[in-house]
Order: sequence, then structure tokens, then C-alpha cells
Amino acid sequence: MSTITLNHEEAKQYAINKLVGAGLIEAHAEKVAEILIHADLRNVNSHGVLRTEHYVNRLKAGGINPNANITFNQTAPTTGIVDGDNGFGHVIGDFAIEKAIQMAKENGIGMVTVMNSSHCGALSYFVQKAAEANLIGIAMSHTDKIVVPFGGKHSFLGTNPIAYGIPAKKHKPFILDMATSTVALGKVLQHKEEGKSIPEGWGVDENGQPVTDPNKVVSLTPFGGPKGYGLSLIVDIFSGLLAGAAFGPHIGKMYDDLDKKRHLGHYFCVFNPTNFVDLETFLARMDQMIDELHESEPAPGYSKVYIPGEIEQQNEESNRVNGITIAKSVYDYLTD
Ligand SMILES: NC(=O)c1ccc[n+]([C@@H]2O[C@H](COP(=O)([O-])OP(=O)(O)OC[C@H]3O[C@@H](n4cnc5c(N)ncnc54)[C@H](O)[C@@H]3O)[C@@H](O)[C@H]2O)c1
Repeated sequence: MSTITLNHEEAKQYAINKLVGAGLIEAHAEKVAEILIHADLRNVNSHGVLRTEHYVNRLKAGGINPNANITFNQTAPTTGIVDGDNGFGHVIGDFAIEKAIQMAKENGIGMVTVMNSSHCGALSYFVQKAAEANLIGIAMSHTDKIVVPFGGKHSFLGTNPIAYGIPAKKHKPFILDMATSTVALGKVLQHKEEGKSIPEGWGVDENGQPVTDPNKVVSLTPFGGPKGYGLSLIVDIFSGLLAGAAFGPHIGKMYDDLDKKRHLGHYFCVFNPTNFVDLETFLARMDQMIDELHESEPAPGYSKVYIPGEIEQQNEESNRVNGITIAKSVYDYLTD
């Protein structure tokens, strides 16, 4: 694949131009582009500016509200519901995590469900915000079906990601951000393009049988068998059912029905560690845990034991200086 490396601010401006050109209001385009660049800086390119073309197509077809009026209904001192008015999930998610952070600062915890949203990108962005405020953040989003339930033949669940952000003091925050499928569909497609077989367990055919030929993959598998399946359902219950949104097979398609609003749900929870433990003690103990993990001896074939989020944080540090690397085809689209 031909790639190009460019400054992240330049790439951000290209994405803003495309989104505004498709009718999105400037303030929302800024936030969407910021979160796409957050992903590209971390080398999570699957959720970076690569997605701009799809968003533009959906905007143009009428499947996303370009001028959403995002509202908040606070249902208790620590809970509330965000209605995203079918705008961009990135903007709606950012609005929701800010509400959760505010409630956590005032009342110890803030829990927010989101309805009438759309694809919100990399969840790490939202939980990192909480961790940077010395709070603990949790985020979940359901997505349309591509993953089989454990023991099932046909897809029912989305890749349903879940993320946790936890602050430390001398170290960067712990950021676990993971889809609940064994791998993202993009990884299967990449093997297909490169003519390589995939490891058994990544995907199944139309009969629910594991396959190693990427051309035969119809659905993905949940990670860790019944455990990942259970966690994926939790994501769908918290960000779907609890948010008054659809579940599993009833969720609006990402890449079909571009003219239809998706009415997606998300779930955010932020809480203050000081409601349980002295902050300085907690941060120092997080640092100690990270130090001890770093000191633990790597197994053969590994150079180091990493903390969740650490590799992405190292990528970000380097990419801020050296630029982000994206597919040439994506660059051509953005600059066309
Ligand atoms: N919004 C949506 O609808 C949606 C849906 C699916 C995925 N996503 C996003 O896709 C992105 C990628 O998800 P993914 O599951 O492919 O991520 P991944 O498999 O690349 O990483 C999952 C987690 O494992 C950690 N990790 C990886 N290698 C590690 C190592 N050697 N040591 C310690 N930790 C390590 C990462 O830091 C990360 O926290 C995420 O940002 C996710 O939010 C979003």
C-alpha cells in the first residue's frame, strides 16, 4: 500500500474542509477532525481521517444531521441522558463525557447514556479526557452487526468497543480501548488484499465455521469465546437498551442506508477516585504498578511488557514530531 506522511495539523484542516464542504457546521467539523487526528496520531488509522470519505457520503445522503442540537436531560445529580439529534457521534460523545466529568467533579460520579447518535470514532479520546482530569472514565458504544454470538452461526452483535481511562502521576494514563471482536474487520480485509491467510479464530463463514481464507469470512468472532461474547452483550445493554436505542441486528447499518439516521447509543461513566482513596496515594500506586509491570521480564519474542495504551502514546509522541502516515488514496481524497 502506498502511503504518505504529513503534519497532523495539515491533515486535520483537510478533513475539516471536506466535512464543512459537505454541509457540517464548522464547530462540529473541528471536533470530528480533532478526534480523527487523535486516532491517526496513535496509529489507530482505522479510526482516523480514512473515515472522512464515508462521513461526507453519509452527510450528503442525509444520514447525519449537519447542524445537530445536542441536549442534556439531567435525571439526578449523578445521571443524565444526552440526545444527539442524530449528529456526529464524535461531537455528541465529547458533549456527553464533559457532562459526566462535570457531575463526577461535583458529586463524585457521573453516568450518561446517549441516544440518537452515530459513529463516534476511537473511544480512547473520551476516557483520556476523564483521566487527564484525575478521574476514571469508562466508555462504551454499540455498533451494527458483524460478530456472531458464541455458538451462533450468524452475526448478531457489533464490534462493540469498551474503553477505560485511569490516571497515573509520572506515567501517562492507563488507556484500555478495545473492540470486543477478536480483530477488527479491517485486519481481515488487509490480509485479503495482501493475499495472506488469517489465523483460525478471527472469522467464520456463512455456516459459522472457522475459516483461514479471508475471502470466506462472513462474520467475525467475539474475543475470548463466551467471555468476549458476554462483554459484547454488556456493551449492547449499556449503550443500547439502557440508552433507549436499538440492539444487535436492529441497529442502523454503518455502510448501508446512508440516507437514514442511525440512532446509535453510547454509555459514559466518570467517577472520582478520591471518593474511595486519597488521590495522591492512588496516583502513586498506579505509578508503582506500572513501574513493576515495566520491570517484569519479557517472554521470548517480546521486548518489553507494555501498559494498555502505552504503545499508542509512544506513537503519538513520535507522530506529533514526524507526522502521521496515511494511505496515499486517503491523502488524494482529502486534497482533491
Ligand atoms: N466507535 C466505534 O463504533 C468503534 C467500533 C470498534 C472499534 N472502535 C475503535 O477501534 C480502535 C481499535 O480497537 P482494537 O480492538 O482493534 O484495538 P487493539 O486490538 O489495537 O488494542 C486493544 C487494546 O490493547 C492494548 N494493547 C495492544 N497491544 C498491547 C501490548 N503489547 N501490551 C499491552 N497492551 C496492548 C491497546 O493499548 C488497546 O488498549 C479503538 O479506538 C476502538 O475504540 C470504535
